[in-house]
Amino acid sequence: MNPVAHGTALDAEALAIDATAHGDPAHAPRLDAYWMPFTSNRRYKKSPKLIAKAEGIWFTTCDGRQVLDGLSGLWCCNAGHCHPRIVEAVRRQVGTLDYAPAFQVGCEDAFRLAERLVAMAPDGFGQVFYTNSGSEAVDTALKIAVAWHRARGDGQRFRLIGREKGYHGVGLGGISVGGIAANRKTFASLMIPGVDHLPHTLDRAAMAYSRGQPAWGAHLADDLERIVALHDASTIAAVIVEPMQGSAGVIVPPRGYLERLREICARHGILLIFDEVICGFGRLGENFGAQRFGVTPDLITFAKGVTSGVVPMGGVIVKREIHDAFMAGPEHLIELFHGYTYSGHPLAVAAAHAALDVYADEGLFAHARTLEPVLEAAVHALRGEPHVVDIRNIGVAAAVELQPIDGSPGLRALQVFEKAYELGALIRVSGDTIALAPPLVSAPHDVTLLVDLLRAALRTAG
Ligand SMILES: Cc1ncc(COP(=O)(O)O)c(C=O)c1O
Repeated sequence: MNPVAHGTALDAEALAIDATAHGDPAHAPRLDAYWMPFTSNRRYKKSPKLIAKAEGIWFTTCDGRQVLDGLSGLWCCNAGHCHPRIVEAVRRQVGTLDYAPAFQVGCEDAFRLAERLVAMAPDGFGQVFYTNSGSEAVDTALKIAVAWHRARGDGQRFRLIGREKGYHGVGLGGISVGGIAANRKTFASLMIPGVDHLPHTLDRAAMAYSRGQPAWGAHLADDLERIVALHDASTIAAVIVEPMQGSAGVIVPPRGYLERLREICARHGILLIFDEVICGFGRLGENFGAQRFGVTPDLITFAKGVTSGVVPMGGVIVKREIHDAFMAGPEHLIELFHGYTYSGHPLAVAAAHAALDVYADEGLFAHARTLEPVLEAAVHALRGEPHVVDIRNIGVAAAVELQPIDGSPGLRALQVFEKAYELGALIRVSGDTIALAPPLVSAPHDVTLLVDLLRAALRTAG
């Protein structure tokens, strides 16, 4: 199917609202019982935004309005919504094998999917460990890293190094290595010990309004040498970074930065984990950020786009030598005491196979590369709009940073978010930064429409 045609098809009949189910005040749910995640619940419930349907790049709200999906759901619906091939694959699967345990038994398609994912990773990767989310993928990767050193008789390597502004989900491992204060401060007593952080790479004085990778900042990777000198390499298990920091607002790695991190980790026997939960599956125009930036880590976490968001799934792809170090001892023993009831869930596996088919058959990663300059030009044209202080972009992702309202951080961007939704675009805010990451099936004019709606919101919000 032509990605552009699928992404923009607006079939009024297909999107029509069933008034008996949605939008009818008599059937409206009470909102109190649902404690919503990462949401200002009280403000939301005074002015709820309820979505009833989705197709392609469009949501239909419960009151029958069309809203452009400006963030691929939450960075996950790379093939757009309700793609017929993915829907059909899941429908078929649920009637054939709804569930099978993954401990000591397995399904053929889960093995086939692992083979496909390994083939999408850079050379040297060999195995996939399935999880159900990005958070679980991160905690799994951290555990594998620590366990790998131990399996090789290097069990004193327990320290984990994250990065300021990093987002690695909400598990206790993920928030420990994560670098977003709001996600950490409340839970400080629960953090895992022995974690340190690299500095983030965002410096507006040096790189504001950069297009793609900033020229400034490779030297910030050298801070890893300071951390190594402080703790000694013999205590450090792994460094985890997002190749491009998505949730903190599209912080693009400076040219040469990831290469330097790679080199320092290799020199000190430290594993490098790329958290590719956002970067993977075409967001940066390649299979993974690793290929986009030409830097090969030792472990890759993934989630979101692997199923185009249709069924939850995540996982870790590891280098063969990492996996092989565990394959010692008596064969009847479990090599890694880790796993989830829903690891390799048949519905997720079916959705993933279909999503990967769609990405390949529709050439969506190549299409993403053609969208990149369109998004870049459109979003940088917002320079000079009210309150804009920085604009960043790479792949099909961009961020617009706003000057916070004095004394009320986050409120300005939230107001823009609410206005944009009213005008017909769903965007994402993190603090006072707005993120855009439209589905890869978008046409160039969809991308410019999204930015036009954001412009209108910036001019009228607040
Ligand atoms: C880089 C990264 N890691 C981990 C996660 C957590 O994923 P999940 O919300 O599926 O647990 C996210 C979510 O946005 C992410 O961006």
